[in-house]
Amino acid sequence: MTDTPPFPTTRLRRLRQHPKLRDLVRETILTPHDFIVPMFVKFGENTRVPIVSMPGQEQVTVDLIADEAKALEALGIPAIILFGIPEEKDSVGSDAYDDDGIIQQAVRAIKDSGSEIMVITDVCLCEYTDHGHCGIIDESTGKPDVNNDRTLELLVKEAVSHANAGADMIAPSGMMDGMIHALRTGLDGEGFSHIPIMSYAAKFSSAFYGPFRDAAESAPQFGDRRTYQMDPANGREALREVAVDLAEGADILMVKPALSYLDVIHAVKQKYPEVPLAGYHVSGEFSMVKAAAEKGWIDEQRVTLEILTSIKRAGADMILTYSAKEVCGWLA
Ligand code: PBG
Repeated sequence: MTDTPPFPTTRLRRLRQHPKLRDLVRETILTPHDFIVPMFVKFGENTRVPIVSMPGQEQVTVDLIADEAKALEALGIPAIILFGIPEEKDSVGSDAYDDDGIIQQAVRAIKDSGSEIMVITDVCLCEYTDHGHCGIIDESTGKPDVNNDRTLELLVKEAVSHANAGADMIAPSGMMDGMIHALRTGLDGEGFSHIPIMSYAAKFSSAFYGPFRDAAESAPQFGDRRTYQMDPANGREALREVAVDLAEGADILMVKPALSYLDVIHAVKQKYPEVPLAGYHVSGEFSMVKAAAEKGWIDEQRVTLEILTSIKRAGADMILTYSAKEVCGWLA
């Protein structure tokens, strides 16, 4: 018996000394094709509003969105995911399912421009409700909470409206019970059985969403999302959520956030290797790298590439990331 493994690491290390072999023996390689880019769109004209807590990111008016999409397409990025900021919010999130809502207009603008980038829409109510929750609030119980089933009806209306506008895929992020089944049935019933669903299947109740809530102006005005998002401590629960969404008809699964949940990404991929899996490298994960880099404490490029590579290595087939544009520049 010897401790020497059949393929000693010294041999691999020798291979890596050759610059070309180093690439050939590398297990995980990032490419522009791995990325889905989140974009924030608002009403108005010719305006870009920098998102202070997410350096380099902007809210963009709907007349500029098609050019943005084309620029990303030119980099080889296959898809974007749109988040809308409505002109007015109300208690039932009306703009979300208005055929002239912000997302519907943005999708039409991109499609009319001739861009072939895949357009994914986030299906949720939190950007559209004045209270900032992901669903309709039930006051009747004395302790206000989201009414799951009334919310489902509105999410179906929202998804159908997005599909009518030309969305290529919907990504429901509200974490309501029975959501994927309701959306699949609703889309099929309206002739959209070809529109896939990317489910935020394992979405944790995370403090890393902080900067996004500035960007989308969607911070909850009372309480938090713990009644419908998952406890960061629960990895096994994540696998159960994933199983339910798969059974209900999800086409692509997502784990969110990604970096603090690499174990969940890995576990989902091990258990369902055949199912496409996305990791969402969320706003807080992005912004903390930016902040440390601004202080000169870390090498932004190397840290960003290391993080995204780790998400892919853990098992994600695709990554939603605000860094995509910069990374494409670095990779080129
Ligand atoms: C909900 C939604 C959120 C994010 C994406 N979709 C916010 C939330 O649940 O509060 C967060 C993404 C990020 O932090 O980058 N529509």
